[in-house]
Amino acid sequence: MFVFAQLSDIHLGQNRAGDGGARAGERARRVMRFLDRLPGCLDAVLMTGDIADHGTDEEYKEFLAIAGDRDEGPPLLTCPGNHDVRAAYRRHLLGEDGADRSDAVNQVHRLPGATFLMCDSSIPGRDDGALTAETLAWLDRELTDDPRDVPAFVVLHHPPVPLHLPYVDGIRLTDERSLVALLERHPRVAAVLCGHAHTAAATTFAGRPLVVSPGTVSTCTLPWEGDEPLDYDLPPAVAFHVLDDDNRLTTHFRVIP
Ligand SMILES: [Fe+2]
Ligand SMILES: [Fe+2]
Repeated sequence: MFVFAQLSDIHLGQNRAGDGGARAGERARRVMRFLDRLPGCLDAVLMTGDIADHGTDEEYKEFLAIAGDRDEGPPLLTCPGNHDVRAAYRRHLLGEDGADRSDAVNQVHRLPGATFLMCDSSIPGRDDGALTAETLAWLDRELTDDPRDVPAFVVLHHPPVPLHLPYVDGIRLTDERSLVALLERHPRVAAVLCGHAHTAAATTFAGRPLVVSPGTVSTCTLPWEGDEPLDYDLPPAVAFHVLDDDNRLTTHFRVIP
């Protein structure tokens, strides 16, 4: 059994009502403290993008401070979102100079029991998403060359299907057919995990579960819930994913009051 948590869209630095990012920081700290207090049951924690709201150095420094010392506890695996900035992300989260690189930030993590392919679906300067030909080739290569016969998770910020949320559907991942074709070649991909939509949602994609993490900073409202696209009063939440020995993924959602 492999158990991991997923949080998303903390948007550090989001200046809500002139608070200078205090509210976003408090929510992110609350969620990380909640996860860190769990008694040693998690094998990993995923953070699926929109870590920073503007991609400034200060926002990534705040993230590192909130994430704390990760030498102890489960590894924290991240991917960028549309609000992140690749150069700053590389500099602060990967320890790379990053100034001379603008290509996608893709990372593979081969943990005992599962492989996580953290894909960069952002398009610099835009809110919608796409996987470049280079990212798709990288993904195909990593899945093909992995000598271990363990389940894999494809993790990216932008959901590749409509979620019936007009606000999000207009900025989802486009050209998803190439990802469908890729997943059809790799049956050991157990699920696709996303953020971006600021709502706990579950559907299917290429015959696999597609789970969308709830947002930390806000919640996207459904068309029948009102006219405002985002709710800032609902509390943050996380997903707990359980992959059992039959490779069945079960997801529980928990609100953090
Ligand atoms: Fe977001
Ligand atoms: Fe986003």
